[in-house]
Amino acid sequence: MSTASLLILAGDGIGPEVMAEVRKIIDWYGAKRDLAFDVSEDLVGGAAYDVHGVPLADETMAKAQAVDAVLLGAVGGPKYDTLDFSLKPERGLLRLRKEMDLFANLRPAQCFDALADFSSLKKDIVAGLDIMIVRELTSGVYFGEPRGIHKEGNERVGINTQRYTESEIARVARSAFELAKKRGNKVCSMEKANVMESGILWRDVVTEIHAAEYADVELSHMYADAGAMQLVRAPKQFDVIVTDNLFGDLLSDAAAMLTGSLGMLPSASLGLPMENGRPKALYEPVHGSAPDIAGQGKANPCACILSFAMALRYSFDQGAEADRLEAAVNQVLAQGIRTADLMQAGDTAPASTSQMGDAVIAALDASL
Ligand code: NAI
Ligand code: MG
Repeated sequence: MSTASLLILAGDGIGPEVMAEVRKIIDWYGAKRDLAFDVSEDLVGGAAYDVHGVPLADETMAKAQAVDAVLLGAVGGPKYDTLDFSLKPERGLLRLRKEMDLFANLRPAQCFDALADFSSLKKDIVAGLDIMIVRELTSGVYFGEPRGIHKEGNERVGINTQRYTESEIARVARSAFELAKKRGNKVCSMEKANVMESGILWRDVVTEIHAAEYADVELSHMYADAGAMQLVRAPKQFDVIVTDNLFGDLLSDAAAMLTGSLGMLPSASLGLPMENGRPKALYEPVHGSAPDIAGQGKANPCACILSFAMALRYSFDQGAEADRLEAAVNQVLAQGIRTADLMQAGDTAPASTSQMGDAVIAALDASL
């Protein structure tokens, strides 16, 4: 692997706590697998506001643009709730997403054997589940014009517009096909081509990109409502699902709950390929800064650790090492070493954040 640069933005609340465990894992890969990362750290969110008076300094933004991947903890906290909208910690994260043009949001739903009981579905439906939802993140009905609330006659009308250009669909489709090649080689595209013109275009463009560039990947299409049903009926039929911003928002949240705790959910946001072929990328846990447990050593570091596993697979082409890290997490859970959020009736004392990280390191050592 050519030298890989990583920018760590730990952020607020439990962000720095879970990121400290990821640091141990990055160091392990450097020492034991000869995967050298050029790691730098900087501030985002409230932590950046405290020092710079803004939730993301220009220098930090420039660094994020220059590295191979950004790893982010979480931002926000009650201390910053009264700040002006433009200074809120979340604006730091939004600026990163916008200026890096991260249009493909990757949300895996992966069931760890030891946690199959946490799912709201029957164990055999979710055991071994490993799917990836790719949600278009920068266009669609959340951004389309015209929008607003206005008066028509004597009543108010609320308007939002679902708008997709061909190139916006093409680039997220390419991201999905590229991912599928590193996974199960299968993409299911979801829209509502039966009732929406934007859905017809979506289906056409995905079909064209597939035929021209990815004919060796298996492609299917599904209406998003039928897809929602299939997702809870038989989720294992899917590998990669690609869909628009609105449907992806709903489908990814639903899929997340197939596998249990917020403390286990990683994510990635990808943009266009850079000169070295790697996509612009930001990896982060789905959860927030969890002020209710911050500073107590209770946070589950797995979501952040698994976000790093995604970086290994999707930014650095280290699929086997990503598998190794995911297997280590699975093994730790199977051993009954769990943070408080994963405790069940009858379990003994929970592991602390750092005990969990150390256990993952021990499992990695054992894998050699
Ligand atoms: P949250 O995700 O921070 O917490 C929700 C619940 O899940 C809390 O009870 C928390 O203790 C628990 N939880 C979350 N992550 C956990 C982990 N790793 N281990 C164990 N338990 C965990 O969402 P909430 O409470 O709505 O927001 C708190 C702050 O985080 C707010 O300021 C919010 O704006 C911000 N936030 C930031 C996000 C980000 O940085 N991407 C995403 C969501 C919220
Ligand atoms: Mg949502």
